[in-house]
Amino acid sequence: MSFRVQPAAPSRPNRCQLFGPGSRPQIFEKMAASAADVINLDLEDAVAPDDKPAARENIIKAISDIDWGNKTLSVRINGLDTPYWYRDVVDLVEQAGERLDMIMIPKVGCAGDIYAVDALISAIEMAKGRTKKIMLEVIIETAAGIAHVEEIAAASPRLTAMSLGAADFAASMGMQTTGIGGTQENYYMIREGQKYWSDPWHWAQTAIVAACRTHGLLPVDGPFGDFSDPDGFKAQALRSATLGMVGKWAIHPNQVALANEVFTPSEAAVTEAREILAAMEEAKKSGTGAAVYKGRLVDLASIRQAEVIVRQSEMISAA
Ligand code: COA
Ligand code: MG
Repeated sequence: MSFRVQPAAPSRPNRCQLFGPGSRPQIFEKMAASAADVINLDLEDAVAPDDKPAARENIIKAISDIDWGNKTLSVRINGLDTPYWYRDVVDLVEQAGERLDMIMIPKVGCAGDIYAVDALISAIEMAKGRTKKIMLEVIIETAAGIAHVEEIAAASPRLTAMSLGAADFAASMGMQTTGIGGTQENYYMIREGQKYWSDPWHWAQTAIVAACRTHGLLPVDGPFGDFSDPDGFKAQALRSATLGMVGKWAIHPNQVALANEVFTPSEAAVTEAREILAAMEEAKKSGTGAAVYKGRLVDLASIRQAEVIVRQSEMISAA
């Protein structure tokens, strides 16, 4: 282990991020009433170019007018390759109330992208005398983003979370698919005439988790486009949770409960983790570093594994 201790990620639930277009203010109240931990009001790809100015106004008004409860409230701005992003940031930070928690930057490609947005936010915060520092989250959804994922994760103390955006990622990588996440028909191994599907998102996900864990950010799985396929959503979410991600986006309200279920450690998992900790406590008393739990080895690493589950469960129930 490096002498540099791994920093803790922010201690807030992020099991589900529910998205809604800024151009559709009729659904904002429904978003606020949902069971999602994070709300993402969108100015980017769910909003048509002509609707961007109206969407900004809707969002700025809704940030103050709607009771968002204890949810984390985030707005996705347009990418730095568009003519819209600076106006998104200026209008939001100048005009939106202090209830705004976070700005999400899509399609980040290098640490400089975050520096640019950070510099702009910092100047406006000072000019306007804002007291609450606006946090940042980013989407890794380009070849450059994944190639520079670690420098991006280290780019700003404002940064708290990083999501994988499967659709733009696939496009940027030149992947032969129009699906948004999940199983890809042509990505299979074959053995004795039988097809076995692999997971084309695995590498990008683990790269994001490693960068996030190194720099104390929350790794999040992005959208699953087919909102009529709950089994597919759940399978994708379970794989993400297994790899260390803490949550997943919902692009339709029917995905929220599924995400919350998958990313809340189950009672059985928490009970088992507590039993492992108890077994190790006993082992310590008798002067050994290893013990047997249900016929398998548990040692000091098992304590750290069990603590991940117990901590996550306690943080969620305390929120
Ligand atoms: N948040 C909260 N409520 C939502 C919602 C959302 N994102 N999307 C739809 N609803 C509401 C609808 O208003 C409707 O409410 P009602 O029962 O009171 O009438 C209900 O949920 C069922 O909606 P449904 O008819 O199934 O969907 P739709 O056709 O109205 O909208 C989408 C489908 C996909 C267009 C819509 O869910 C959406 O815009 N999702 C977010 C897209 C987005 O932001 N993408 C960017 C990130 S990838
Ligand atoms: Mg995208």
